Amino acid sequence: MATQKGFNIYLSPPHMCGQEATFVQDAFTSNWIAPLGPHVDAFEQSLATFTGSTSCAALNSGTSALHLALIMSGVGVGDVVICPTLTFSASVNPIIYQGAMPVFIDCLADTWNMDPGLCESAILDLMAKGKRPKALIVVHLYGMPANMHAFTQLCEKYNITLIEDAAESLGAYFHQQHTGTFGRFGVLSFNGNKVITTSGGGALLCQTSADAEQARFLATQARDQAPHYEHSQIGYNYRLSNICAAIGRGQMTVLEDRVATRREIWARYQAGLSVNPGISFTYEPENYRSSRWLTTILIHPEQAGFTCEMARNTLLAHQIESRPVWKPMHLQPIFKGHPAYLNGHSANIFNQGLCLPSGSSLSTTDQDMIINLLLQG
Ligand SMILES: Cc1ncc(COP(=O)(O)O)c(C=O)c1O
Repeated sequence: MATQKGFNIYLSPPHMCGQEATFVQDAFTSNWIAPLGPHVDAFEQSLATFTGSTSCAALNSGTSALHLALIMSGVGVGDVVICPTLTFSASVNPIIYQGAMPVFIDCLADTWNMDPGLCESAILDLMAKGKRPKALIVVHLYGMPANMHAFTQLCEKYNITLIEDAAESLGAYFHQQHTGTFGRFGVLSFNGNKVITTSGGGALLCQTSADAEQARFLATQARDQAPHYEHSQIGYNYRLSNICAAIGRGQMTVLEDRVATRREIWARYQAGLSVNPGISFTYEPENYRSSRWLTTILIHPEQAGFTCEMARNTLLAHQIESRPVWKPMHLQPIFKGHPAYLNGHSANIFNQGLCLPSGSSLSTTDQDMIINLLLQG
């Protein structure tokens, strides 16, 4: 049996285009090795332009971007923050860093994103108990946009700060508007498995340049204007380095191609696997354009003739990496006992869901082999 390392085909490996090395070489030649520098400014500018956001702060991870978004939203000890249960733990951990309380909301069966109706019931219930939510984190899961008409309306109606976790959805649009630009803050991630990578990194998309400035200030140890080291706020060491930003600039030159390829990969899986009626796919509603960061499937064992775990092990035996879908936060030992508003969908999706190799460097030959293995069960 293959070990975790040494797969022949990985789930979503980095995919360099060659331009990255030119930008990194420039950073070396100009000796901008120290943190910050011209590639950081240019990377921020290209992210803001691509997404259509007013401003952007490049940071060392998506997690730190989310942490700063919560701090700047005024989330502190005892505050309630609403977030989906079906997500990666990084969407939730920064709430705990702030001493605040996450409240988990279940998802819709078709897009797997947070259910707006259930979310409104939760807000009303929490308000009736005197626990008005301070912020709401929407996640665009696996690159599929959430219903941003519904969530912007909810946040306006109940005066809640809207934060979008767009870590998985760079290149995804809701009604032609890029994900991460609806709320006051949008979070991007460039870790090794994302649509584009800087080896590790993230960014905070902001609606105002003042917010982006404040994020950069907090992320650089909150140093006040003074010749000496003066601090009137708690700071963080969260900025992206000039070297990582240079990688990001190279990756930006192929971003649209990378998204197009991931969408083609999704379509090829769908065409190939749909012959088995026990395998189903997420639904992309009209005017939603997913980045298809990862292709995810549901395997209904009775109709498919095999379970998700059997499929995962079949692929593993051929040294092909696949992964169960995110385990919902309300089922995680660390979040046991936190309030959760549930409808059963996320638990079902976790039991029957599998993420398939979806990297933009996946060859059609390899993908066809994966499809054939899955069809054999
Ligand atoms: C939904 C989601 N949120 C947040 C993150 C955190 O991003 P990072 O790994 O850059 O800290 C990730 C990815 O890792 C993610 O998938």
